[in-house]
Amino acid sequence: MTDQLERLNRLPLRDNLRGLQPYGAPQPHVPVLLNVNGNTHGLPAKVHAAIVAAVGEAAAGLNRYPDREFSQLREALAGYLGHGLGPSNIWAANGSNEVLQQILQAFGGPGRRALSFPPTYSMYPLLASGTDTEYVTSPRAADFTLTAEAAGEAVRRTRANIVFLGSPNNPTGTALGLDVVEAVYEAGAASSAIVIVDEAYAEFARTGTPSALSLLPGRERLIVSRTMSKAFALAGARGGYLAAAPEITDALRLVRLPYHLSAVTQATALAALEHADALLANVEDIKGQRDRIVEELSALGLAPAPSDSNFVFFGGVKDPRVVWQGLLDAGVLIRDVGIPGHLRVTAGTEAETTAFLGRIRELV
Ligand SMILES: Cc1ncc(COP(=O)(O)O)c(C=O)c1O
Repeated sequence: MTDQLERLNRLPLRDNLRGLQPYGAPQPHVPVLLNVNGNTHGLPAKVHAAIVAAVGEAAAGLNRYPDREFSQLREALAGYLGHGLGPSNIWAANGSNEVLQQILQAFGGPGRRALSFPPTYSMYPLLASGTDTEYVTSPRAADFTLTAEAAGEAVRRTRANIVFLGSPNNPTGTALGLDVVEAVYEAGAASSAIVIVDEAYAEFARTGTPSALSLLPGRERLIVSRTMSKAFALAGARGGYLAAAPEITDALRLVRLPYHLSAVTQATALAALEHADALLANVEDIKGQRDRIVEELSALGLAPAPSDSNFVFFGGVKDPRVVWQGLLDAGVLIRDVGIPGHLRVTAGTEAETTAFLGRIRELV
């Protein structure tokens, strides 16, 4: 046992936190960082300037608490999402991780069970243990797909109170069909399951991929979560949000901390939303790099999964650790997600993508 673990164990830590590792994607100083699915293109100059101006203005009022209801931001987010949504359907927090945590605080907890379908986002089990929610899983098919039938059956079998559906899923990258969401929602009626469709990467989906936003009307247990960390290039600002029935947002008011969304965060997010067009133009460019990675990895005999996100999950790698290290030696950091024969890479700028492809061509 490490010293650190021993010292932790001497504390009266909650039993369900003992032995857990914190979320810890490495943050090393490497020239080409393609490991955490951030937006590699950064903020366009005019968006940067608009954010600086908006934050400057907000700074003048920092002696006061911010708008607790972040009304302007909810209105702007509803306008951005469309689908007939209004401000009462929207909730926001410091990253979609906090949104997910608040959902678990309100609807999970002791005696409640959350279900997901691995491989999926590594924070789901950590958010569950942090809120003392039991975490259960049901596997995907060998090719990492998930059918409506299998997902619905898992919900019925586990009588889950909360279901996480990553779509597009991380680390596999592919979006789910809406039939899967519908089947999970119907199967969840017996246990009154809250169904969360985590659409953190929705803006990168291939043309024609529908969003679960279209399923919201009439489904009061359905939640679609989104983030400004990916398409909006604001991972550092921490802004995530959800769309759902107004009663869901009312439930989250019971668990949020007072004034949880700072005036600086609200101003930043609003300024970015005003320039959504410029940010979404970068998304198109990133999708181009993503498609280029899929094509070139296929040509190398590797097996990339269809990607609806800003990253590519690829199989057919004989020794992932060796390839991962070989890339790192050349200054390119990608992610070994611990799945045999597979690695995951974020789509970079044209130059970053070229560096990745050039080196992996030498390695495989
Ligand atoms: C599937 C998925 N959901 C949610 C998040 C959380 O993003 P944030 O808290 O930055 O909004 C991530 C981040 O990588 C993710 O991959």
